[in-house]
Amino acid sequence: MIHLKSVDLKKEKIESLVIPVCEDKNIFEDNIIISLIKEAKKIKEFKGGKDDELVFYNLTEVRAERVIFIGLGKFEKIDIETFRAAAGKAVKESIKKKLSNVLIAVPSAKKINMEMTSLLAAMLEGSYLGNHVFDKYKKEKKHTPVKKINFLVTPEETRKYSRLSSRIKTICQGTILAREWVSTPSNDKRPEHFSRSIVSLARKANLKVTVLGEKELKQKKFGAILAVAAGSESNPRLVVLEHHPKGSKKTVVLVGKGVTFDSGGINLKSSAGLTEMKLDMSGAASVAATLITAAELKSKLRVVGILPIVENMVSGNASRPGDIIKTYDGKTVEIGNTDAEGRLILIDAISYGIKKYKPRILIDMATLTGACIVALGEKIAGTFSFDDKLAEDIILSGQKTHERCWRLPMPEEYKELLKSDFADLNNMSSTHYGGAITAALFLSEFVKDTRWAHIDIAGPAYAKKESAYCGAGGTGFGVRLLCDVLDKL
Ligand code: BES
Ligand code: ZN
Ligand code: ZN
Repeated sequence: MIHLKSVDLKKEKIESLVIPVCEDKNIFEDNIIISLIKEAKKIKEFKGGKDDELVFYNLTEVRAERVIFIGLGKFEKIDIETFRAAAGKAVKESIKKKLSNVLIAVPSAKKINMEMTSLLAAMLEGSYLGNHVFDKYKKEKKHTPVKKINFLVTPEETRKYSRLSSRIKTICQGTILAREWVSTPSNDKRPEHFSRSIVSLARKANLKVTVLGEKELKQKKFGAILAVAAGSESNPRLVVLEHHPKGSKKTVVLVGKGVTFDSGGINLKSSAGLTEMKLDMSGAASVAATLITAAELKSKLRVVGILPIVENMVSGNASRPGDIIKTYDGKTVEIGNTDAEGRLILIDAISYGIKKYKPRILIDMATLTGACIVALGEKIAGTFSFDDKLAEDIILSGQKTHERCWRLPMPEEYKELLKSDFADLNNMSSTHYGGAITAALFLSEFVKDTRWAHIDIAGPAYAKKESAYCGAGGTGFGVRLLCDVLDKL
Protein backbone atom coordinates (compact mmCIF):
# COMPACT_ATOMS: atom_id res chain seq x y z
CA MET A 1 0.00 0.00 0.00
CA ILE A 2 1.34 3.38 -1.00
CA HIS A 3 -0.17 6.60 0.30
CA LEU A 4 0.37 10.32 0.64
CA LYS A 5 0.36 11.13 4.31
CA SER A 6 0.94 14.05 6.62
CA VAL A 7 2.82 12.99 9.73
CA ASP A 8 3.92 14.83 12.85
CA LEU A 9 7.53 13.66 12.96
CA LYS A 10 7.91 14.57 16.62
CA LYS A 11 4.87 12.63 17.77
CA GLU A 12 4.21 9.68 15.51
CA LYS A 13 6.30 6.57 15.82
CA ILE A 14 7.91 5.57 12.54
CA GLU A 15 9.79 2.42 11.63
CA SER A 16 11.87 4.13 9.00
CA LEU A 17 12.17 7.63 7.55
CA VAL A 18 13.91 8.14 4.19
CA ILE A 19 15.34 11.54 3.27
CA PRO A 20 16.73 12.32 -0.19
CA VAL A 21 19.70 14.66 0.17
CA CYS A 22 21.17 17.03 -2.38
CA GLU A 23 24.93 17.50 -2.16
CA ASP A 24 25.16 21.27 -2.54
CA LYS A 25 21.71 22.77 -1.88
CA ASN A 26 18.91 22.55 0.63
CA ILE A 27 15.80 21.23 -1.13
CA PHE A 28 13.43 21.01 1.87
CA GLU A 29 11.12 23.44 3.61
CA ASP A 30 10.46 21.37 6.73
CA ASN A 31 12.76 22.50 9.56
CA ILE A 32 12.99 19.11 11.21
CA ILE A 33 14.15 17.51 7.95
CA ILE A 34 16.60 20.36 7.35
CA SER A 35 18.18 19.88 10.76
CA LEU A 36 18.38 16.10 10.29
CA ILE A 37 20.24 16.63 7.01
CA LYS A 38 22.63 19.01 8.78
CA GLU A 39 23.42 16.30 11.32
CA ALA A 40 23.95 13.75 8.54
CA LYS A 41 26.35 16.01 6.68
CA LYS A 42 28.52 16.29 9.80
CA ILE A 43 29.49 12.68 9.22
CA LYS A 44 32.63 12.54 7.11
CA GLU A 45 31.56 9.64 4.89
CA PHE A 46 28.31 11.27 3.80
CA LYS A 47 28.12 14.27 1.51
CA GLY A 48 24.85 13.61 -0.30
CA GLY A 49 26.75 12.55 -3.40
CA LYS A 50 24.94 10.35 -5.91
CA ASP A 51 24.23 6.91 -4.36
CA ASP A 52 25.77 7.85 -0.98
CA GLU A 53 23.84 6.35 1.89
CA LEU A 54 23.80 6.86 5.64
CA VAL A 55 21.60 5.44 8.40
CA PHE A 56 20.97 6.98 11.85
CA TYR A 57 19.29 4.89 14.54
CA ASN A 58 17.08 6.02 17.41
CA LEU A 59 17.49 9.77 17.08
CA THR A 60 15.95 11.97 19.74
CA GLU A 61 14.70 14.68 17.31
CA VAL A 62 12.17 12.38 15.62
CA ARG A 63 10.38 9.23 16.73
CA ALA A 64 11.87 7.17 13.92
CA GLU A 65 13.64 3.91 14.64
CA ARG A 66 15.94 4.76 11.76
CA VAL A 67 16.51 7.59 9.32
CA ILE A 68 17.96 6.62 5.96
CA PHE A 69 19.64 9.39 3.95
CA ILE A 70 19.95 8.84 0.21
CA GLY A 71 22.36 11.03 -1.76
CA LEU A 72 21.10 12.65 -4.96
CA GLY A 73 24.30 14.33 -6.12
CA LYS A 74 24.85 17.89 -7.29
CA PHE A 75 21.89 20.24 -7.75
CA GLU A 76 22.57 21.08 -11.40
CA LYS A 77 22.49 17.38 -12.35
CA ILE A 78 19.20 16.65 -10.60
CA ASP A 79 16.12 15.99 -12.74
CA ILE A 80 12.78 14.19 -12.39
CA GLU A 81 14.40 10.82 -13.02
CA THR A 82 16.71 11.44 -10.04
CA PHE A 83 13.65 11.40 -7.78
CA ARG A 84 12.03 8.40 -9.48
CA ALA A 85 15.29 6.53 -8.95
CA ALA A 86 15.73 7.79 -5.38
CA ALA A 87 12.25 6.60 -4.40
CA GLY A 88 12.98 3.26 -6.08
CA LYS A 89 16.26 2.95 -4.20
CA ALA A 90 14.59 3.88 -0.91
CA VAL A 91 12.12 1.04 -1.36
CA LYS A 92 14.69 -1.49 -2.58
CA GLU A 93 16.93 -0.64 0.35
CA SER A 94 13.99 -1.13 2.71
CA ILE A 95 13.23 -4.51 1.14
CA LYS A 96 16.86 -5.56 1.73
CA LYS A 97 16.61 -4.38 5.34
CA LYS A 98 13.34 -6.33 5.71
CA LEU A 99 11.40 -3.25 6.77
CA SER A 100 7.64 -3.21 6.49
CA ASN A 101 6.80 0.45 6.98
CA VAL A 102 8.58 3.33 5.26
CA LEU A 103 7.98 7.07 5.24
CA ILE A 104 9.66 8.97 2.39
CA ALA A 105 10.21 12.72 2.68
CA VAL A 106 9.17 14.72 -0.41
CA PRO A 107 11.38 17.73 -1.23
CA SER A 108 9.94 21.16 -1.92
CA ALA A 109 9.00 21.31 -5.61
CA LYS A 110 9.68 25.06 -5.59
CA LYS A 111 13.21 24.64 -4.33
CA ILE A 112 14.05 22.28 -7.19
CA ASN A 113 12.13 24.25 -9.85
CA MET A 114 9.74 21.43 -10.65
CA GLU A 115 5.99 20.97 -10.71
CA MET A 116 4.74 19.20 -7.58
CA THR A 117 2.58 16.96 -9.82
CA SER A 118 5.58 15.69 -11.79
CA LEU A 119 7.75 15.34 -8.71
CA LEU A 120 5.14 13.34 -6.79
CA ALA A 121 4.22 11.27 -9.85
CA ALA A 122 7.87 10.32 -10.35
CA MET A 123 8.43 9.43 -6.69
CA LEU A 124 5.22 7.39 -6.57
CA GLU A 125 6.25 5.55 -9.74
CA GLY A 126 9.74 4.82 -8.43
CA SER A 127 8.34 3.38 -5.21
CA TYR A 128 5.60 1.24 -6.81
CA LEU A 129 7.95 -0.14 -9.43
CA GLY A 130 10.86 -0.56 -7.00
CA ASN A 131 8.61 -2.57 -4.69
CA HIS A 132 7.97 -5.24 -7.32
CA VAL A 133 9.64 -8.59 -6.69
CA PHE A 134 9.38 -11.44 -9.21
CA ASP A 135 10.10 -14.57 -7.18
CA LYS A 136 7.29 -16.84 -8.33
CA TYR A 137 9.80 -19.50 -9.37
CA LYS A 138 11.85 -19.44 -6.16
CA LYS A 139 11.09 -21.74 -3.29
CA GLU A 140 12.83 -19.53 -0.80
CA LYS A 141 11.37 -16.01 -0.91
CA LYS A 142 14.24 -13.81 0.19
CA HIS A 143 12.76 -10.43 -0.63
CA THR A 144 9.33 -9.41 0.61
CA PRO A 145 7.86 -6.16 -0.75
CA VAL A 146 7.45 -3.34 1.77
CA LYS A 147 3.90 -3.43 3.17
CA LYS A 148 3.35 0.26 3.76
CA ILE A 149 5.02 3.11 1.95
CA ASN A 150 3.98 6.66 2.80
CA PHE A 151 5.04 9.94 1.26
CA LEU A 152 5.38 12.80 3.69
CA VAL A 153 3.27 15.73 2.48
CA THR A 154 1.01 18.41 4.00
CA PRO A 155 -2.67 17.63 4.76
CA GLU A 156 -3.78 19.82 1.81
CA GLU A 157 -1.43 17.98 -0.53
CA THR A 158 -2.84 14.65 0.63
CA ARG A 159 -6.24 15.73 -0.68
CA LYS A 160 -5.01 17.63 -3.72
CA TYR A 161 -2.97 14.75 -5.11
CA SER A 162 -5.08 11.74 -4.13
CA ARG A 163 -6.38 11.26 -7.69
CA LEU A 164 -2.89 11.53 -9.11
CA SER A 165 -1.78 8.90 -6.65
CA SER A 166 -4.46 6.42 -7.67
CA ARG A 167 -3.79 7.04 -11.38
CA ILE A 168 -0.08 6.32 -10.90
CA LYS A 169 -0.96 3.17 -8.97
CA THR A 170 -3.08 1.87 -11.86
CA ILE A 171 -0.38 2.63 -14.44
CA CYS A 172 2.32 0.98 -12.32
CA GLN A 173 0.15 -2.11 -11.84
CA GLY A 174 -0.06 -2.27 -15.64
CA THR A 175 3.72 -1.95 -15.92
CA ILE A 176 4.22 -4.72 -13.36
CA LEU A 177 1.77 -6.95 -15.20
CA ALA A 178 3.79 -6.51 -18.40
CA ARG A 179 7.02 -7.19 -16.47
CA GLU A 180 5.66 -10.45 -15.08
CA TRP A 181 4.46 -11.66 -18.46
CA VAL A 182 7.87 -10.96 -19.98
CA SER A 183 9.82 -12.54 -17.11
CA THR A 184 7.66 -15.69 -17.24
CA PRO A 185 9.62 -18.48 -18.98
CA SER A 186 8.48 -19.57 -22.43
CA ASN A 187 7.37 -23.01 -21.19
CA ASP A 188 4.72 -21.26 -19.11
CA LYS A 189 3.48 -18.86 -21.76
CA ARG A 190 3.07 -20.78 -24.96
CA PRO A 191 0.59 -19.02 -27.26
CA GLU A 192 -2.61 -20.69 -25.94
CA HIS A 193 -1.52 -20.09 -22.37
CA PHE A 194 -0.33 -16.49 -22.84
CA SER A 195 -3.49 -15.51 -24.70
CA ARG A 196 -5.65 -17.13 -22.00
CA SER A 197 -3.86 -15.11 -19.36
CA ILE A 198 -4.42 -11.89 -21.35
CA VAL A 199 -8.08 -12.73 -21.99
CA SER A 200 -8.92 -13.42 -18.36
CA LEU A 201 -7.39 -10.16 -17.09
CA ALA A 202 -8.85 -8.15 -19.99
CA ARG A 203 -12.35 -9.46 -19.23
CA LYS A 204 -11.96 -8.46 -15.59
CA ALA A 205 -11.12 -4.95 -16.77
CA ASN A 206 -14.33 -4.93 -18.88
CA LEU A 207 -12.57 -4.93 -22.22
CA LYS A 208 -14.30 -6.49 -25.21
CA VAL A 209 -12.27 -9.55 -26.11
CA THR A 210 -12.09 -11.46 -29.39
CA VAL A 211 -9.72 -14.34 -30.01
CA LEU A 212 -9.04 -15.80 -33.43
CA GLY A 213 -7.65 -19.34 -33.20
CA GLU A 214 -5.86 -21.32 -35.88
CA LYS A 215 -9.07 -22.26 -37.71
CA GLU A 216 -10.26 -18.65 -38.03
CA LEU A 217 -6.78 -17.45 -38.94
CA LYS A 218 -6.79 -20.01 -41.79
CA GLN A 219 -10.32 -19.05 -42.89
CA LYS A 220 -9.45 -15.35 -42.90
CA LYS A 221 -6.11 -15.98 -44.63
CA PHE A 222 -3.61 -14.63 -42.11
CA GLY A 223 -0.84 -16.19 -44.20
CA ALA A 224 2.08 -14.45 -42.44
CA ILE A 225 1.02 -15.33 -38.90
CA LEU A 226 0.39 -18.94 -39.92
CA ALA A 227 3.78 -19.20 -41.66
CA VAL A 228 5.63 -18.13 -38.51
CA ALA A 229 3.58 -20.43 -36.28
CA ALA A 230 3.98 -23.44 -38.60
CA GLY A 231 7.03 -24.86 -36.82
CA SER A 232 5.46 -24.92 -33.37
CA GLU A 233 3.28 -27.57 -31.72
CA SER A 234 1.47 -24.66 -30.15
CA ASN A 235 -1.25 -22.97 -32.21
CA PRO A 236 -1.20 -19.22 -32.96
CA ARG A 237 -3.72 -16.72 -31.67
CA LEU A 238 -4.79 -13.25 -32.66
CA VAL A 239 -6.14 -11.56 -29.56
CA VAL A 240 -8.14 -8.34 -29.99
CA LEU A 241 -8.90 -6.18 -26.97
CA GLU A 242 -11.26 -3.25 -27.28
CA HIS A 243 -11.94 -0.34 -24.96
CA HIS A 244 -14.95 1.46 -26.43
CA PRO A 245 -16.31 4.23 -24.20
CA LYS A 246 -19.63 5.84 -25.12
CA GLY A 247 -19.29 8.96 -27.25
CA SER A 248 -15.71 8.24 -28.30
CA LYS A 249 -14.93 9.60 -31.75
CA LYS A 250 -11.33 8.67 -32.40
CA THR A 251 -9.99 5.15 -32.64
CA VAL A 252 -6.37 4.32 -31.85
CA VAL A 253 -5.08 0.87 -32.69
CA LEU A 254 -2.08 -0.53 -30.81
CA VAL A 255 -0.33 -3.61 -32.19
CA GLY A 256 2.17 -5.64 -30.13
CA LYS A 257 4.57 -8.39 -31.24
CA GLY A 258 3.80 -11.56 -29.31
CA VAL A 259 6.47 -14.16 -30.09
CA THR A 260 6.47 -16.26 -26.92
CA PHE A 261 9.83 -17.77 -27.90
CA ASP A 262 12.00 -16.85 -30.86
CA SER A 263 14.33 -19.70 -31.77
CA GLY A 264 14.95 -18.06 -35.13
CA GLY A 265 13.21 -20.97 -36.91
CA ILE A 266 15.23 -22.81 -39.59
CA ASN A 267 17.61 -19.82 -39.52
CA LEU A 268 18.27 -20.94 -35.96
CA LYS A 269 19.83 -18.40 -33.63
CA SER A 270 23.22 -19.01 -32.02
CA SER A 271 23.36 -20.20 -28.39
CA ALA A 272 24.05 -16.65 -27.23
CA GLY A 273 21.20 -15.32 -29.36
CA LEU A 274 18.75 -17.82 -27.89
CA THR A 275 19.10 -16.80 -24.26
CA GLU A 276 16.43 -14.32 -23.24
CA MET A 277 14.28 -14.96 -26.32
CA LYS A 278 11.35 -15.37 -23.95
CA LEU A 279 11.34 -11.56 -24.08
CA ASP A 280 10.07 -11.56 -27.67
CA MET A 281 6.45 -11.05 -26.63
CA SER A 282 7.23 -7.80 -24.79
CA GLY A 283 5.38 -5.67 -27.35
CA ALA A 284 2.20 -7.72 -26.86
CA ALA A 285 2.66 -7.64 -23.08
CA SER A 286 2.97 -3.85 -23.03
CA VAL A 287 0.05 -3.31 -25.41
CA ALA A 288 -2.24 -5.71 -23.49
CA ALA A 289 -1.26 -4.10 -20.18
CA THR A 290 -1.86 -0.64 -21.68
CA LEU A 291 -5.36 -1.66 -22.81
CA ILE A 292 -6.17 -2.99 -19.34
CA THR A 293 -4.81 0.22 -17.81
CA ALA A 294 -6.71 2.47 -20.27
CA ALA A 295 -9.94 0.65 -19.35
CA GLU A 296 -9.27 1.05 -15.64
CA LEU A 297 -8.47 4.73 -16.08
CA LYS A 298 -11.67 5.12 -18.11
CA SER A 299 -9.86 6.66 -21.07
CA LYS A 300 -12.18 8.68 -23.35
CA LEU A 301 -10.58 7.27 -26.48
CA ARG A 302 -11.60 4.12 -28.28
CA VAL A 303 -8.46 2.01 -28.04
CA VAL A 304 -8.05 -1.36 -29.75
CA GLY A 305 -5.14 -3.68 -28.98
CA ILE A 306 -4.21 -6.30 -31.57
CA LEU A 307 -1.85 -9.04 -30.47
CA PRO A 308 -0.53 -11.68 -32.85
CA ILE A 309 0.78 -14.44 -30.60
CA VAL A 310 2.98 -17.25 -31.92
CA GLU A 311 6.00 -19.36 -31.08
CA ASN A 312 8.84 -19.33 -33.65
CA MET A 313 10.19 -22.89 -33.60
CA VAL A 314 12.07 -25.42 -35.72
CA SER A 315 10.39 -28.61 -36.93
CA GLY A 316 9.53 -30.61 -40.03
CA ASN A 317 6.61 -28.27 -40.56
CA ALA A 318 8.50 -25.03 -40.06
CA SER A 319 8.61 -22.43 -42.83
CA ARG A 320 11.78 -22.56 -44.91
CA PRO A 321 14.02 -19.75 -46.14
CA GLY A 322 12.88 -19.07 -49.70
CA ASP A 323 9.25 -19.93 -49.01
CA ILE A 324 6.76 -17.47 -50.47
CA ILE A 325 3.65 -16.67 -48.48
CA LYS A 326 0.50 -14.65 -49.10
CA THR A 327 -0.21 -12.10 -46.38
CA TYR A 328 -3.60 -11.02 -45.02
CA ASP A 329 -3.26 -7.87 -47.14
CA GLY A 330 -2.85 -9.96 -50.31
CA LYS A 331 0.78 -9.06 -51.02
CA THR A 332 3.26 -11.94 -51.32
CA VAL A 333 6.43 -12.11 -49.24
CA GLU A 334 9.52 -14.24 -49.76
CA ILE A 335 10.85 -15.42 -46.41
CA GLY A 336 14.52 -14.50 -46.83
CA ASN A 337 15.15 -15.32 -43.18
CA THR A 338 12.88 -17.16 -40.76
CA ASP A 339 14.39 -15.17 -37.87
CA ALA A 340 12.83 -11.99 -39.26
CA GLU A 341 9.47 -13.35 -38.03
CA GLY A 342 8.33 -10.32 -36.02
CA ARG A 343 7.69 -8.19 -39.08
CA LEU A 344 5.65 -11.03 -40.61
CA ILE A 345 3.19 -11.39 -37.77
CA LEU A 346 3.02 -7.60 -37.39
CA ILE A 347 2.02 -6.92 -41.00
CA ASP A 348 -0.95 -9.28 -40.76
CA ALA A 349 -2.04 -7.66 -37.50
CA ILE A 350 -1.52 -4.14 -38.88
CA SER A 351 -3.47 -4.88 -42.09
CA TYR A 352 -6.30 -6.40 -40.06
CA GLY A 353 -6.36 -3.43 -37.67
CA ILE A 354 -6.53 -0.91 -40.51
CA LYS A 355 -9.16 -2.82 -42.47
CA LYS A 356 -11.43 -3.55 -39.52
CA TYR A 357 -11.09 -0.45 -37.32
CA LYS A 358 -10.02 2.32 -39.74
CA PRO A 359 -8.05 3.97 -36.94
CA ARG A 360 -7.07 7.64 -36.74
CA ILE A 361 -3.68 6.45 -35.49
CA LEU A 362 -1.89 3.09 -35.35
CA ILE A 363 1.16 2.45 -33.18
CA ASP A 364 3.01 -0.85 -33.11
CA MET A 365 5.45 -1.91 -30.44
CA ALA A 366 7.90 -4.76 -30.95
CA THR A 367 11.20 -6.32 -29.92
CA LEU A 368 11.92 -6.27 -33.62
CA THR A 369 15.66 -6.05 -34.31
CA GLY A 370 19.04 -6.64 -32.74
CA ALA A 371 20.17 -3.82 -35.03
CA CYS A 372 18.14 -1.33 -33.00
CA ILE A 373 20.13 -2.32 -29.89
CA VAL A 374 23.35 -1.83 -31.86
CA ALA A 375 22.16 1.64 -32.87
CA LEU A 376 20.73 2.95 -29.59
CA GLY A 377 21.94 0.64 -26.82
CA GLU A 378 19.84 -1.22 -24.30
CA LYS A 379 17.96 1.66 -22.73
CA ILE A 380 16.49 3.58 -25.66
CA ALA A 381 13.75 2.53 -28.07
CA GLY A 382 13.90 3.27 -31.79
CA THR A 383 10.94 5.27 -33.05
CA PHE A 384 9.85 5.48 -36.66
CA SER A 385 7.10 7.54 -38.25
CA PHE A 386 6.41 9.56 -41.38
CA ASP A 387 4.22 11.77 -39.19
CA ASP A 388 6.27 14.48 -37.42
CA LYS A 389 3.55 15.30 -34.90
CA LEU A 390 3.04 11.68 -33.85
CA ALA A 391 6.80 11.09 -33.60
CA GLU A 392 7.14 14.24 -31.48
CA ASP A 393 4.28 13.18 -29.18
CA ILE A 394 5.97 9.82 -28.59
CA ILE A 395 9.41 11.31 -27.99
CA LEU A 396 8.05 13.86 -25.49
CA SER A 397 6.15 11.13 -23.63
CA GLY A 398 9.41 9.20 -23.58
CA GLN A 399 11.18 12.11 -21.93
CA LYS A 400 8.42 12.54 -19.37
CA THR A 401 8.23 8.87 -18.39
CA HIS A 402 11.94 8.17 -18.89
CA GLU A 403 10.96 5.43 -21.33
CA ARG A 404 13.23 7.08 -23.82
CA CYS A 405 12.56 7.03 -27.55
CA TRP A 406 14.81 8.22 -30.33
CA ARG A 407 13.54 8.86 -33.84
CA LEU A 408 15.31 7.11 -36.70
CA PRO A 409 14.79 7.84 -40.40
CA MET A 410 13.01 5.77 -43.05
CA PRO A 411 14.64 6.84 -46.33
CA GLU A 412 12.60 5.92 -49.40
CA GLU A 413 15.61 4.61 -51.31
CA TYR A 414 16.30 1.90 -48.69
CA LYS A 415 13.08 0.21 -49.82
CA GLU A 416 15.15 -1.14 -52.71
CA LEU A 417 16.84 -3.41 -50.18
CA LEU A 418 13.59 -5.29 -49.56
CA LYS A 419 12.99 -6.32 -53.17
CA SER A 420 12.51 -9.97 -54.04
CA ASP A 421 13.08 -11.56 -57.45
CA PHE A 422 9.99 -13.71 -57.03
CA ALA A 423 7.56 -12.09 -54.59
CA ASP A 424 6.25 -8.58 -53.92
CA LEU A 425 8.70 -8.17 -51.02
CA ASN A 426 11.45 -9.97 -49.12
CA ASN A 427 11.31 -9.99 -45.33
CA MET A 428 15.10 -9.80 -45.24
CA SER A 429 17.14 -6.84 -46.38
CA SER A 430 19.87 -7.45 -48.96
CA THR A 431 22.39 -5.73 -46.65
CA HIS A 432 23.24 -6.26 -42.97
CA TYR A 433 23.44 -2.54 -42.33
CA GLY A 434 20.60 -0.40 -40.99
CA GLY A 435 18.53 -3.41 -39.92
CA ALA A 436 16.20 -1.47 -37.63
CA ILE A 437 15.40 0.91 -40.49
CA THR A 438 14.78 -1.75 -43.12
CA ALA A 439 12.50 -3.61 -40.67
CA ALA A 440 10.47 -0.41 -40.15
CA LEU A 441 10.32 0.16 -43.91
CA PHE A 442 9.03 -3.37 -44.37
CA LEU A 443 6.15 -2.60 -41.99
CA SER A 444 5.51 0.72 -43.73
CA GLU A 445 4.51 -1.18 -46.89
CA PHE A 446 1.34 -2.28 -45.09
CA VAL A 447 0.14 0.84 -43.28
CA LYS A 448 -1.43 2.56 -46.31
CA ASP A 449 -2.26 6.20 -45.46
CA THR A 450 -2.89 5.61 -41.75
CA ARG A 451 -0.98 7.85 -39.34
CA TRP A 452 1.44 5.27 -37.98
CA ALA A 453 4.42 4.92 -35.68
CA HIS A 454 6.61 1.92 -34.96
CA ILE A 455 8.51 1.58 -31.68
CA ASP A 456 11.36 -0.97 -31.61
CA ILE A 457 11.84 -1.95 -27.96
CA ALA A 458 14.36 -4.80 -28.50
CA GLY A 459 16.81 -3.05 -26.13
CA PRO A 460 14.76 -1.62 -23.27
CA ALA A 461 12.12 -4.38 -22.94
CA TYR A 462 14.44 -6.52 -20.84
CA ALA A 463 17.12 -5.82 -18.24
CA LYS A 464 20.00 -8.19 -17.60
CA LYS A 465 20.76 -6.45 -14.30
CA GLU A 466 18.57 -4.72 -11.75
CA SER A 467 18.50 -0.92 -11.59
CA ALA A 468 16.99 1.72 -9.29
CA TYR A 469 13.31 0.77 -9.73
CA CYS A 470 13.44 -2.36 -11.85
CA GLY A 471 14.64 -5.87 -11.13
CA ALA A 472 16.41 -8.09 -13.65
CA GLY A 473 14.00 -9.38 -16.32
CA GLY A 474 11.04 -7.75 -18.07
CA THR A 475 10.98 -3.98 -17.57
CA GLY A 476 7.38 -3.29 -18.64
CA PHE A 477 8.81 -0.66 -21.00
CA GLY A 478 6.05 0.90 -23.08
CA VAL A 479 3.13 0.84 -20.66
CA ARG A 480 3.87 4.19 -19.03
CA LEU A 481 4.91 5.56 -22.42
CA LEU A 482 1.76 4.47 -24.26
CA CYS A 483 -0.54 5.60 -21.42
CA ASP A 484 1.02 9.04 -21.66
CA VAL A 485 0.77 9.12 -25.46
CA LEU A 486 -2.91 8.06 -25.35
CA ASP A 487 -3.58 10.91 -22.95
CA LYS A 488 -2.52 13.39 -25.63
CA LEU A 489 -4.40 11.94 -28.61
N1 BES B 1 13.44 -11.05 -31.76
C1 BES B 1 14.50 -10.69 -32.61
C2 BES B 1 15.10 -9.32 -32.29
C3 BES B 1 15.80 -9.20 -30.96
C4 BES B 1 17.15 -9.48 -30.86
C5 BES B 1 15.11 -8.78 -29.85
C6 BES B 1 17.78 -9.36 -29.63
C7 BES B 1 15.76 -8.65 -28.63
C8 BES B 1 17.09 -8.94 -28.52
C9 BES B 1 14.03 -10.67 -34.06
O1 BES B 1 12.99 -11.53 -34.39
C10 BES B 1 15.19 -11.05 -34.91
O2 BES B 1 15.65 -12.14 -34.77
N2 BES B 1 15.63 -10.15 -35.78
C11 BES B 1 16.73 -10.38 -36.63
C12 BES B 1 16.38 -9.83 -37.98
C13 BES B 1 17.29 -10.29 -39.09
C14 BES B 1 17.19 -11.78 -39.31
C15 BES B 1 16.90 -9.55 -40.35
C16 BES B 1 17.93 -9.67 -36.03
O3 BES B 1 17.80 -8.63 -35.41
O4 BES B 1 19.04 -10.19 -36.19
ZN1 ZN C 1 13.67 -13.48 -34.91
ZN1 ZN D 1 11.73 -12.01 -32.79
